Amino acid sequence: MANEGTLALDTENANPIPTTATETAPELSIIVPTFNEAANVTELVKKLDECLGGVRWEVIFVDDNSPDGTADRVRDLARQDTRVRCLHRVGRRGLSSACVEGMLSSSAPYMAVMDGDLQHDETRLPEMLDLLRNSDVELVYGSRYTEGGGIGDWDESRALISRVATKLSRLILKSDISDPMSGFFMLRREVLGNTVDKLSQIGFKILVDILSSANPPLKTASVAYEFRTRSEGESKMDNHAAMDYLMLLFDKMFGHIVPARFVSFTIVGGTGIFIHLAVMYLLFQVGKLEFVAAQAIATLIAMTSNFTINNFLTYHDRKLTGWGWIKGLVTFNLACSIGAITNVGIASYIFAMETQWILASLAGIIVGAVWNYAVTSVYTWKSA
Ligand code: GDD
Ligand code: MN
Repeated sequence: MANEGTLALDTENANPIPTTATETAPELSIIVPTFNEAANVTELVKKLDECLGGVRWEVIFVDDNSPDGTADRVRDLARQDTRVRCLHRVGRRGLSSACVEGMLSSSAPYMAVMDGDLQHDETRLPEMLDLLRNSDVELVYGSRYTEGGGIGDWDESRALISRVATKLSRLILKSDISDPMSGFFMLRREVLGNTVDKLSQIGFKILVDILSSANPPLKTASVAYEFRTRSEGESKMDNHAAMDYLMLLFDKMFGHIVPARFVSFTIVGGTGIFIHLAVMYLLFQVGKLEFVAAQAIATLIAMTSNFTINNFLTYHDRKLTGWGWIKGLVTFNLACSIGAITNVGIASYIFAMETQWILASLAGIIVGAVWNYAVTSVYTWKSA
C-alpha cells in the first residue's frame, strides 16, 4: 500500500495515527503576544528561522484584534509558512492572558514566550532549549540583571521602576530570581499544566504569575540577554501596568481570601465618601440648598465619580466607552441605589437587635459593598 509507512495502529484505541506526526510536530512553540506589531512580525519570523536551524519549531502569534492589522499580516505569513500560526482574539486585551491562551493552544513539549517587537534576543532560544532538554530545569528565563545582560536604552525612571518591581516580587516569590519581570522565557509544558488553574493572568507579568503559582517552587535557570531598542511601533506599557502589577501581587498574597478587584472597588468606594461630603459642604453649607436636595445631588455625583474611577482603574481592561459608558453609568447607579437601600435595611435590622451602632453600621456597609461589586461585575462590566 502506498501509505503503509505513514500509518501505524494505536492498539489501545485502535485509531490509525500517522507515524510521521512525531517527525513533523513541533518540539518548540514560541508564543508571541502582539498588539499593533504589524511592522515587526515578518522580521521576527525571519530571525526565528535564522537562529533555530535544526529545531522543529512553530510560532503562535496571539493578537488582540490590533487596529493596525497585525493578525492579517500574520495570516499572510502563515499561508506561506506552516510554522506560523495566528490566534486572533476579539473583544479582549491583556498580555498575560494572551500568553496563557497561546500556550494552551500548543501541543509542543517546550514552549517559549517572547515579545513581538524584536526587543528580546531570539538568538538565546537554542541555548534555552538545550538547557531544558539536557537537565532537570523546568523553566529558563532571559535575564537582563545577570552577567552579560542589560536593559538597553531605558531611561533612569523606567530602570528604577523595573528595579522596584523586581524587589516587590520577593513578596510572592519563594526563590531568588534575578529577573522575574522578564517577558522572555521557556518552559516545559507540564509547568503550565500544573499552574494554569492558579494563574491570575492580570496585566503584563506572566513570568511572576507562573513562578509564584508553582508549588513546590520551579527549578529555574537563566540566560543573559540585552534588551534591545524598539525600532518599529511603540510600547503598550502604561500607568495601568503599575496598577495591574499591584493587583497581581495582592491577588497572589490574599486572592484566596478576597479578590483583588473587590479591594480596588472598595477603595474607590471610599473615595466616594469624601466626594459626597465635599459636595454636601458646597451645596448645603456654603450654597444653602435644602438638605434633602443637596444629599440627593451629592449621592448622584459620588456614584458617577465612583463609576468613572472604577471604569478607569478597577475595570480598565473592560473599559466602557461611548454608548457603553452611558449604559454602564445607568446600571451602576441603579445597582448602587439598591445597594444603598439594602445597606440601610440590614444596618437598621441589626441595630434593632440591640447591637452596637458601629457594628450594625459596618454590617450594612459590607453587605452593600458586596452587593454593588457582585451586581456591577455582572451587569455593568460584563466579562467578554
Ligand atoms: N495580545 C496582546 N495583548 N499583546 C500585547 C498587549 C495586549 O494587550 N499589550 C502588549 N502586547 C504585546 C506587544 O505587542 C509586544 O509584543 C509585547 O506584548 C510586549 O509589549 P511592549 O508594549 O513592547 O512592552 P515593553 O517592551 O514595554 O515591556 C516588555 O518587556 C519587559 C522586559 O522584558 C514586556 O515583555 C514586559 O512584560 C517585560 O517586563
Ligand atoms: Mn517592547
